Amino acid sequence: MAEYEDAYAQSVQNPENFWADIASHFYWRRRWNKVLEWNFKDPDVKWFTGAKLNITENCIDRHLEKLGNRPAIIWEPNDPEEHHRIITYKDLHEKVNQVANVLRNNGVKKGDRVCIYMGMIPELAISVLACARIGAIHSVIFGGFSARSIADRLQDAQAEYIITSDGAFRGQKDIPLKSVIDDALVACPFVKKVIVCTRTRTPVSMIKGRDVWWEDEIKKIETLGMTDCPAEEMDAEDPLFILYTSGSTGKPKGVVHSCAGYMIYTNYSFVNVFQYKPGDIFFCTADIGWITGHSYIVYGPLSAGGTTLMFEGVPTWPDAGRLWDIVDKYRVNTLYTAPTAVRSLMAYGLGPLQNKSLASLKVIGSVGEPINEEAWHWLDEHVGKSKCPIVDTWWQTETGGILISNLAGITPSKPSYATLPLPGVQAILVDEQGNPVPGSDSAADGVYKANPEGAGLESNGNLCIKFPWPSIIRTTYGDHERCRTTYFATYENQYFTGDGALRDANGNYRITGRVDDVLNVSGHRIGTAEVENAINMHTDVVESAVVGFPHEIKGQGIYAYIVYSGRNPDQVLTRKDIIATVSRIIGPIAKPDKIQFVSSLPKTRSGKIMRRILRKIAEGEMDNLGDTTTLLDPNVVEEIKHGKL
Ligand code: PRX
Repeated sequence: MAEYEDAYAQSVQNPENFWADIASHFYWRRRWNKVLEWNFKDPDVKWFTGAKLNITENCIDRHLEKLGNRPAIIWEPNDPEEHHRIITYKDLHEKVNQVANVLRNNGVKKGDRVCIYMGMIPELAISVLACARIGAIHSVIFGGFSARSIADRLQDAQAEYIITSDGAFRGQKDIPLKSVIDDALVACPFVKKVIVCTRTRTPVSMIKGRDVWWEDEIKKIETLGMTDCPAEEMDAEDPLFILYTSGSTGKPKGVVHSCAGYMIYTNYSFVNVFQYKPGDIFFCTADIGWITGHSYIVYGPLSAGGTTLMFEGVPTWPDAGRLWDIVDKYRVNTLYTAPTAVRSLMAYGLGPLQNKSLASLKVIGSVGEPINEEAWHWLDEHVGKSKCPIVDTWWQTETGGILISNLAGITPSKPSYATLPLPGVQAILVDEQGNPVPGSDSAADGVYKANPEGAGLESNGNLCIKFPWPSIIRTTYGDHERCRTTYFATYENQYFTGDGALRDANGNYRITGRVDDVLNVSGHRIGTAEVENAINMHTDVVESAVVGFPHEIKGQGIYAYIVYSGRNPDQVLTRKDIIATVSRIIGPIAKPDKIQFVSSLPKTRSGKIMRRILRKIAEGEMDNLGDTTTLLDPNVVEEIKHGKL
C-alpha cells in the first residue's frame, strides 16, 4: 500500500516526470520534446510531442533477441479436438512483416483506414499489428455486428481496405463473415480491396479486382522476395486505431487512440494491475473486436513481452467447463473475464469445475460491468480457491486502459468496488451542477491519502477525471466537436465518464452504472437511441422507447415499449419480426429481451418521453414511479403498468 501511495503521490505532484520515467523503458526512434501539453476545453491532449516510434517495434522487434522463442500468442481453437497453435515472438515477427507487406502491396499507405472483421484467430491479431507496422489506422469491428452496422462504420471512417475471413466458428455456430461484408459493401462502393483469410471454408463469392485471398497474397510477396517490412516511423500523436462505441445519441462514434500514449498506458496498466511476471500465461476471454481485446490481448501483453492466450470459442461450448479446461491445458496464470460470463457459468453449478485443478491461477480479473457480490465470491472461492487476488477493473473504450482497479496482491480488494485509481489517474465525483462532491477527489492536495479532504466521508456523484492520462481519447473520428460535447463539455475542465459512482471513506470507488441512456448488456455497450432507431425501421412501428432492466445473467436486459400501428400487436410473429429487424440493423447483441406493445408513450407536455417512468416499470417498481404530474396524459402510465408483455 505504501508503494502505491508513493507512486500515486508522485504521479500527481509531477506527472511529467512520472510518465517520462515509465516511457524511458520503451524503444523510441526519437525521444520527445515535451511530455505533456493539454487542455480539456478544445479538448487538445498531446503526450510525448516530437517523439517518433512504431508500436510494433515495441511489441515485437525489441523482444526478439532475448525472447524470440517465447510464445507470444497461444491460440486455442473453437473445437477442442482441433490442434492449437503457438506463435513465438520470432514467428509473430515473420507473420506481421508478411501481412504488412501484403497490405503495402495492395496499396495501403500510412494513415489509410483498414477495417478488420474477423473471428478470434491469430490472423486477427496479426492483421492489427500489420496495420500498425505500416502506420495504417485499424478499425476492428466485432464479428457480431450486422452488414448495416459495418456499412455505417466503413462510411464514417472512409475505410477503403478490409481484412476478413470466409467465416468464423463460435460454439456450434459458423458465422459467414465474408457474406456479411458483401452485403455491407453494397453501400460502400469506395472500398478498393477485401483480403479474405481462410478459416471455415464456407462458400464465398469473390469479386474480381476487389477481393483477394490472404494466402495467395502471401505467396505473391514471397515470390517478390519481400520478407522484412521496415516499420513506418510514427509520430507519438499519430492515430493508431479507431474503435466504434455506442453513446446516448445517434450513431456509434469512432474513438481515436494515438500511438505513444496508448502504448505506454496499456503496458503500464497491464503490468501493474495484474502484476504480470515474465513467463506468465495471460488469458483474456474478451474478443479483439472490443477495447478489452485491443488493450489486454494484443498491445498490453505483447508490449510487455508476455504470452497472451487467444480463444476462438465460447465459455459454454462444448460444455460449461471449457474455460477451466483451457486454464489447466496451458497452465494459465491470469484469467481476465467478464461478470456476465461468470454468472452464466454459475448457472451450471459446480459440476463443470469438478476434476479441474486450476492450480496455476495466480490472479483473476473482471471487466465490463459492475461485478455483483455473489459472482465475486463464486470466482474467489471456486475458481481462485481463495488464494488469487481478484482485480475489478473499471475503464472504457475512451480511456484506452484500466483507470480504477486494485493492483493484484498490492492494494486490497473490496467486493463490488473497483477500488482505487491507478497512479496517474485523478478521479473525482461531481454533482449535477459540476461541483466537486466533498471527500471525492482522489488527488486533492496532490498527495494520495485515504479521503484527503474529509476523512470518514462517503460520497457519490458523477465520475470524472480531472487530469489527462496517456491513453485518453484524442478525438472522435471525423467529428472533433462530438468528442468535445460528449466528454468534455458537461463539466468544465473534466473528462466525464458517463458513469455514476460511490466513494467510501477509504477512497475506494464503486461504479454504480451509466447515468446516460447507454445500456450495458452482457458487458456490451448499447445506446437506447440506436435500438429505438432500429425498431422504428419496422413498417408497423409508430414509435418506441427502450430502457434497461436488471437481468440475472446479462446484468442489464433490453426492454422495448412499442407503439404499433399494425392489426395484431400480440402476435408472436410480429415480435419476431421486430427482433429480426434489430438483428439486421445492429446485430444480435442488441435484440430486445422484452417487448411491450402500448397505445402511446408517457410524454411531458413538451413531447419528451419520460424514460424514468418506463425504467421503473421495467424494473417492476410500480409503486415508486415518482412525480407523474408533468405528464401530458397520466392515464398512459396506468395502461402501461397493467399492460402485458
Ligand atoms: O459503465 C462502465 C462499464 O462499461 C462502460 C464502458 O464500456 P466499454 O467502453 O464497452 O468498455 C468495456 C470494457 C472496458 C463503463 O462506462 N464498466 C466497465 N468496467 C466496469 C464497468 N462498470 C463497473 N465495473 C467495472 N469494472
